[in-house]
Amino acid sequence: MEKLVIRGDRELRLSGEVRMSGAKNAILPAIAASLLTSEEIRLSNIPRVKDVETILTLIAELGGAYQVDGDTVSLRVPKIRSDEASYELVRAMRASILVLGPLVARFGKAVVALPGGCAIGSRPIDLHIAGLQKLGATISLEHGYIQAQADRLRGAVVEFEKKTVTGTENLLMAAALAKGETILKNCAREPEVVDLAVLLNKMGAKIEWLDADTARVRGVRELGGAAHDIISDRIETGTFLVAGALTAGDFLLRNVCPEHMATVIEKLRASGAIVEIEGENALRVAGSREVKAQDIMTSPYPGFPTDMQAQFMVLLTQATGTSIITETIFDRRFSHVNELVRLGASIEVQGDKAVVKGKTLLSGAEVIATDLRASAALVLAGLVAAGETTINEIEHLDRGYERIEEKLRGLGASIERVKA
Ligand code: EPU
Repeated sequence: MEKLVIRGDRELRLSGEVRMSGAKNAILPAIAASLLTSEEIRLSNIPRVKDVETILTLIAELGGAYQVDGDTVSLRVPKIRSDEASYELVRAMRASILVLGPLVARFGKAVVALPGGCAIGSRPIDLHIAGLQKLGATISLEHGYIQAQADRLRGAVVEFEKKTVTGTENLLMAAALAKGETILKNCAREPEVVDLAVLLNKMGAKIEWLDADTARVRGVRELGGAAHDIISDRIETGTFLVAGALTAGDFLLRNVCPEHMATVIEKLRASGAIVEIEGENALRVAGSREVKAQDIMTSPYPGFPTDMQAQFMVLLTQATGTSIITETIFDRRFSHVNELVRLGASIEVQGDKAVVKGKTLLSGAEVIATDLRASAALVLAGLVAAGETTINEIEHLDRGYERIEEKLRGLGASIERVKA
């Protein structure tokens, strides 16, 4: 086990340049999509994070082969050896559920462990299952495993009761190989969902967006190989933008997709930071010591992302006045609050709202990271907390951030990974 030790400084100003990685939540479905074809899928701009290792392990357990070379991975699944995603892997990463649609669509069978509880809320997968049933899959639950079967999936109209990112991705992949036309209504339109559709179309799928949240998928018999450059990680980018705003820093972020950042940029500007788009794939952030309070409500894209809620909360602890953060996506995504309070923040949770009173001076302490974005929030808080902050259980952080401590060190932070 490892931990991060941060020597915080209330006067810290991050500066320089930092390169963002490919999007974790875009590479995971792209890797799952390799199960849809016997030909080679080549993905570049991949982030070197633990969740990518986990899904590659899953692909290998199913019988696929892959090769990683720098920031590129090549995958090939001519046939499968197993159709089972084990509880061990699904428990390690819920996104393992992304193999359900492709396996049943191409091989007619899938056995995937039902994900249990989760640190950020109840997170059921009923909408994935209902959608696949609409396409003709027979699904049962036995011994904690979802057993799905179908001779060949058939196109249908599926309306998601609620927007679901991985649910939409599973159905896009399944419908791509179904017989006939599928209409998916009330789809999630996160950039990662759109990026998957782009990859699937390169593989020969026929997916069109009819409006903001409706997709038409004309099923094809077979899909082929493709090469695809994964979009950059908008949540990593948002996390570093907050680091700039929080430390009144001034730096450049490279390899970003500014068009995916509109809502986060708007909120950062409202808090007093300067964020400028520099060409096609760079952003400059310049923070201010006078942070303004504001209210935030998470919602599906293009709304404010739930994956940025914890990090923004840290910024708002440094704002003058009271801010109210409403979390509408997950029912228990405030686990960072108690840890931030240990660092000196004044935050009170009332149902789906967190009331943040600022400005509070933070001071370093020992804290525990409980989920990925909560961990990122603690790192940010540690940067401006006087003295030493030790973050334990950083395996959550490593699931989704590539070398965060090296990137922050490059901007002038004092942060080290040590053996626990
Ligand atoms: N939901 C259902 N039934 C379902 C599916 C979802 O009720 O069958 C509910 C969920 O409980 C939640 C809401 O719908 O209240 C939205 O959940 P969604 O399915 O969109 O979440 P997800 O697909 O499991 C992805 C990201 C998450 C991100 C959410 C929301 C991946 C691999 N994960 O999860 O990323 O928070 O969308 O944007 O894409 C992270 O990166 O830290 C992370 C948690």
